[in-house]
Amino acid sequence: MSLLWEDPIANSLKEEKSADNKQEAVTPPTIAHEQVVAQEKDIKQPPLDASTDTAGNTGLESIEMGAKRIQVDDKQIINCRADLNQLVPFKYEWAWQKYLSACNNHWMPQEINMTADIALWKNSDGLTEDERLVVERNLGFFSTADSLVANNLVLAVYKHITNPECRQYLLRQAFEEAIHTHAYQYCIESLGLDEGKLFNMYREIPSVATKAEWALPYTQSLGDINFRTGTHENDQRLLRDLIAFYVIFEGIFFYVGFAQILSMGRRNKMTGVAEQFQYILRDESMHMNFGIDVINQIKIENPNLWTEDFKKDMVKLILEGVDLETQYAYDTMPRGILGMNAPMFEEYLHYIANRRLTQIGLEEHFKGANNPFPWMSEILDLKKEKNFFETRVTEYQTGGALNW
Ligand SMILES: [Fe+2]
Ligand SMILES: [Fe+2]
Repeated sequence: MSLLWEDPIANSLKEEKSADNKQEAVTPPTIAHEQVVAQEKDIKQPPLDASTDTAGNTGLESIEMGAKRIQVDDKQIINCRADLNQLVPFKYEWAWQKYLSACNNHWMPQEINMTADIALWKNSDGLTEDERLVVERNLGFFSTADSLVANNLVLAVYKHITNPECRQYLLRQAFEEAIHTHAYQYCIESLGLDEGKLFNMYREIPSVATKAEWALPYTQSLGDINFRTGTHENDQRLLRDLIAFYVIFEGIFFYVGFAQILSMGRRNKMTGVAEQFQYILRDESMHMNFGIDVINQIKIENPNLWTEDFKKDMVKLILEGVDLETQYAYDTMPRGILGMNAPMFEEYLHYIANRRLTQIGLEEHFKGANNPFPWMSEILDLKKEKNFFETRVTEYQTGGALNW
């Protein structure tokens, strides 16, 4: 039995809505430069099927009075028809644990001391031109990349993940992406860099633009208001887009920049910026691991999606990502600095790609690739959590400490 009531606002909007639906889809703006790697038209888009009734709930359905209580077996990651406003009983403990760990790792950009960075940046002999290029390009790339990831989560992914404990993590991740964008803004402001130049870099510098441009079709696809899961084609499309963002965008496209900046910090240069990146890397590593768990769980629940053709397409997608990130390494590092050079990053990306492929059940592609930056693995090791916080000064207020 549904609770029905007369909703005057909804009624008045009905007419407006039907007029809206007649409008043609808005064409996304294109970024003008020659090196276009993937165009939306090149990506096979299965037909939209808005009429499907197998798509999952959104959480905004009318309340069904007297409906039975939720059982664990009612829950699934996609196309779930159980009430999404009830967090428990948990089915996916890994999602809840990641939510708790993420909350334990809370940090804010203002806690990090930027004084040494400001002095070094303002000293004309402090850094070489090549080192300055690395700092500016990375702050430029990441300052918009994290907003893109946040928008993808909130406007595209969230609606189609029909599980409350996964959504709980997605909400936490969305907040962390906001903190990351804040951190880049904080670095840019602290160093007195040209905000317009850095935030607009993804519309001016090809190697920064191509990564965002490559990813956009995979969020525009899910963000389409007519998109629904529930058919074989559309469920594959969701799975593909999750791989594009979690495995490639957050799992490959961030890693040259992270390694470059963290390497500067290891050599006592731009230590504040490097510390910001260290916290961000720890968050990102968990985002990616959450995404991989979601992808693998969707595969378990929907084995029919993981066809040989689909697997080949996903390998191709990951290799495209490796090519773009390799190009980024060469563009940001035309000459070697700090004992690193672009070919080392190429090897590192092969090593990372092998890991990403095997994490989602595909075969390694770059046989024998080694990790030229073993210290990155140490930083990523979450067991080192306590070390991260040695420099922290802020205590967070808990409910018990608040004054009313
Ligand atoms: Fe982020
Ligand atoms: Fe992220």
